[in-house]
Amino acid sequence: MAGTGKVILITGGSSGLGQAMCKRLAEHGHRVYGTGRKVEDGTQQNGCTLLRMDITDDASVTRGVAELLKREGRIDVLVNNAGLGIQGPLEDITPELAGRLLDTNVLGAHRLCRAVLPAMREQGRGLIINITSVAGHFGLPYRGFYSASKAALERYGEALATEVKRFGITVVSVQPGEFNTPIADARLRPDAISPANQPGYERAMQVLGGSMHYSRDPDELAQVVEKVIGARNPKSAYLVAQGVQRISVLLKKILPGRMFQRMVGKHYE
Ligand SMILES: NC(=O)c1ccc[n+]([C@@H]2O[C@H](COP(=O)([O-])OP(=O)(O)OC[C@H]3O[C@@H](n4cnc5c(N)ncnc54)[C@H](OP(=O)(O)O)[C@@H]3O)[C@@H](O)[C@H]2O)c1
Repeated sequence: MAGTGKVILITGGSSGLGQAMCKRLAEHGHRVYGTGRKVEDGTQQNGCTLLRMDITDDASVTRGVAELLKREGRIDVLVNNAGLGIQGPLEDITPELAGRLLDTNVLGAHRLCRAVLPAMREQGRGLIINITSVAGHFGLPYRGFYSASKAALERYGEALATEVKRFGITVVSVQPGEFNTPIADARLRPDAISPANQPGYERAMQVLGGSMHYSRDPDELAQVVEKVIGARNPKSAYLVAQGVQRISVLLKKILPGRMFQRMVGKHYE
């Protein structure tokens, strides 16, 4: 049970990767708070404390962070983990549906950063970890707004890192590949798929479903986050992916754009 006893807030601690991070970090001596939309403040789960929070709601975020600061008097680490998936041909995704995704995956993280920055600045230190995705490296077909949201969070984090370095605050992005969580169940979907897009969409979802079957234990991601939290000088980004996902990130950097797009297209055929 050795640990440095940092005060850590993890959004989306009720499920999947967030739950695994909460468990591991609490087991290693940190004071961990996880959030969920349906939990009661103070509920105990695997040694961590849950707080009710909807990251799409300014007041809810402000209240949740204030509750944590009231209990602990400080916040050492924020992990922006809560997020949603989306699936569907881009042509069939309404701006309203895309807006819901971006409001969670991008503006949700922004709300949390705004809420914790004053306390971290006053402390003269703090660490913000944004959980992005391998999907942020390229535009995944039929999950375009998911890729866009994670790419946006990457660029947001880069900019924020430069702005807050002078206050002693560090910003890191952690980019998971596929992990075994219920994320697919909560993916946003359009009400209807246009007939022209149906065959390509169905085939891509079959391929995606097959690959999720082989996905990894969320605790592996939690181990990386634990390492980042313990590092004296963490890197700006950590890619936590294997096999074809890891290689794809490298190929995206070196292949001509059209060649890379053909390769992605073939994968989902
Ligand atoms: N699983 C993967 O393979 C994978 C790969 C790359 C990146 N990621 C990223 O990792 C993060 C966690 O995903 P996961 O796989 O663990 O998914 P998950 O099991 O579906 O968990 C998502 C979490 O986000 C929370 N959440 C969603 N909307 C919220 C909102 N408006 N306010 C507050 N909390 C909200 C959920 O809490 P409630 O529903 O209880 O409120 C839940 O705890 C996401 O950002 C995801 O994009 C996952």
